[in-house]
Amino acid sequence: MWRAMVVMVMGVMFVAGCGSASWKPRDVSDLGGQRADYLVVTDRDAYELRDAVVRGDVLSGTVVHAWALSARISSRSKLPNLSPETIAERLGWEPFEHPATVAIPTQRIVTISRHEEESGTGTVLGFGLGLMLVVGALVVAGAAWQPSCGRPLRVRGRRCVTPLATTDEWIADVEVAPVPAPVLPILRTVWTQEAQAEHAAIAAFAKLSLELIALGAPPDLVIRAHRAALQEVQHARLCFGVASAYAGTKLGPAPLPEALEGDTVDLDRVAREALLDGCLREGLAAEIAATGASTAIDPAIARVMRIQAREEAQHAELCWAIVEWAIGRGGEPMRDMLLGQVSRAAFPRCDDLPEYGRVPHAVVAAMHAALLERTRQRIRMSGLPTVRLAA
Ligand SMILES: [Fe+2]
Ligand SMILES: [Fe+2]
Repeated sequence: MWRAMVVMVMGVMFVAGCGSASWKPRDVSDLGGQRADYLVVTDRDAYELRDAVVRGDVLSGTVVHAWALSARISSRSKLPNLSPETIAERLGWEPFEHPATVAIPTQRIVTISRHEEESGTGTVLGFGLGLMLVVGALVVAGAAWQPSCGRPLRVRGRRCVTPLATTDEWIADVEVAPVPAPVLPILRTVWTQEAQAEHAAIAAFAKLSLELIALGAPPDLVIRAHRAALQEVQHARLCFGVASAYAGTKLGPAPLPEALEGDTVDLDRVAREALLDGCLREGLAAEIAATGASTAIDPAIARVMRIQAREEAQHAELCWAIVEWAIGRGGEPMRDMLLGQVSRAAFPRCDDLPEYGRVPHAVVAAMHAALLERTRQRIRMSGLPTVRLAA
């Protein structure tokens, strides 16, 4: 909580001390009828709009980018003076495929910034501090970053997870040790989110196997996608087991009809999702789980995390095989597209509780930075002939 208070205080300093800016927070009621570029955040998604205007109770404009939020943002938050893409990257928002134009009822707008061609001395300071205000508001509001594990199920770019149900059908037998009362709500939330994410990963790999068939991929990739889906079933059961134990109630997945909604087959999208969701997200998840397993004091938690570490690493390698196959099919334009995606990698939720298997933010940040660099190098080298040195 003290960290949340610090970032909130720093955020208030930003609002008080920052002068002119190129992305200025606005009140929805004060937008007027003039056309402008906006960053609009609703209760569940965000849009960068060009040439947008308010008519009556609707803001409409051309969509430049659209993202699904990683967590709800408080209506008290002011967006920092950063480009929308930078805010999206720092807050772990996920891009989704969007229509060319959008009309948003103004009552859905939680917070909004308008692009203005100005600059000011407070801008550089405000960049970091303003972001802290939003992050602080997220923490204070109890909102969560994305969990570390589980390849996301994306339906037309939007991340889907199952609602929760009261059932013991998905609960693996995991006997966790008692934990102190202040820690219990955090662990209950974290493991419930991990269970939902692992459950979504089952559908994500099932969908991937069909997409690989539709794209004419070799059998090895299809076999490995099916194997990954089965491993995610076990991950989901283990995580629902831990979550139920911490919650003191039976937790499992509810029906998820969105799992049958599809996208049109698209090599670029399959390669992009393999990179972001597999090589990067599952690759980082494997490292986090390995570290968490090494510091967790409860043997049951360490065992679950060791399984995740081993198998998430396999899933990351499967996705590297898909990326390399896609570069072989798409050539240099595919390689360039993928290199441009690396910086969009999501950053997971962290909690500074190593004795409970939760890896601190600073450790994950170092892993994340190193992984991005290794990923860029591997994409650049993918498909190039190997030079064998003479003995
Ligand atoms: Fe998993
Ligand atoms: Fe996985």
